[in-house]
Parts: sequence; structure tokens; C-alpha cells
Amino acid sequence: MAAKADATNNAWGYALAAFPDGEFGADPIRGTGNGTVMWDTSVHHPAGLLQQPIALTIREGRVVRIEGGSEAQQLIKFIDEFSNGKNDEFDIELSIGFNPKSPLTGMLRTDKKHYGKIHTAIGDDHKDQLHVDGVTRKPTISINGKTIVEDGIIKIPPLDTWMSGR
Ligand SMILES: [Fe+2]
Repeated sequence: MAAKADATNNAWGYALAAFPDGEFGADPIRGTGNGTVMWDTSVHHPAGLLQQPIALTIREGRVVRIEGGSEAQQLIKFIDEFSNGKNDEFDIELSIGFNPKSPLTGMLRTDKKHYGKIHTAIGDDHKDQLHVDGVTRKPTISINGKTIVEDGIIKIPPLDTWMSGR
């Protein structure tokens, strides 16, 4: 997916962060996301560390399929119940956590800030839509051919050494 790192396109301008701090991200350009996202750590609903991964199939920036075990089924039911049919837009955020002290707890508040994790989301809460985050444990991210996160390790100095020896 393509992304733009323009804080002015966000009503909050990324100036505010929920504690614990420790994430940076960019909004993907609407309609450009294609592929599969695996949420394998935690998701807003159901709460807790995931027992089975949830796979989201993305086509042109929209979630067209959600697959997995019982937690995926709970998520589908939750979205169906509270989205008013408007929450299939995926292209709202892609953020990388960089806080080595933020623990994995099964709650998005801490998990999405955990070093080397990414979180992505369904739904745009700036459009009064339900917004559901999910965390991926060991992502690899490349931008214009340069890998900036590999298997959960941020490749940008000095962040590349923050979790050495883990
Ligand atoms: Fe989010």
C-alpha cells in the first residue's frame, strides 16, 4: 500500500498520544492497499492475547474477507453489530510501535506501542465509524525498496539496537 506521512491530514495531527507513548505511523493513501494482514497478537474485540491469528484480505483499501478461528468469528459479529455497514474501510492507519518497555498484555493500549509491532485498523473514527485496531507481532515493512522493519526489528538507527538480545 502507498502511504503519506502528512500529519495535517489527520484531525488530531498525531500531536496527541495515549499512554504509554511509543508509536509512529502514516495514513495509507485511500484505495491503495492490497494483500493480507495477519493480526496475530491482539485486537480491540475480543480482548486478550489472540489464541489464533485473524487474517484480513485487503483489496483496494477495503477489507473483503476476515478469516480465522472463534476470535475471528467474534470480531465479524462485533463489526456486523456495531458498524452500520460502514466499517469495511481499512486504509486509515499503519503504525509501528517503538517502546521497549511497553508490555504485551492483550490490550491494544500497550500492545500497539510494543517495540517492533505494527497495528493496522478497520474503520475511520474521524468519520464516526467503528474503529478496530489489530496488532501484528513480527512484521516486515519495506518502503521504496528499503526495509525499515524486518521480522519485528526496526532497521532505523538507533532503534535497531533497542531490543538487541531479546
Ligand atoms: Fe487505531
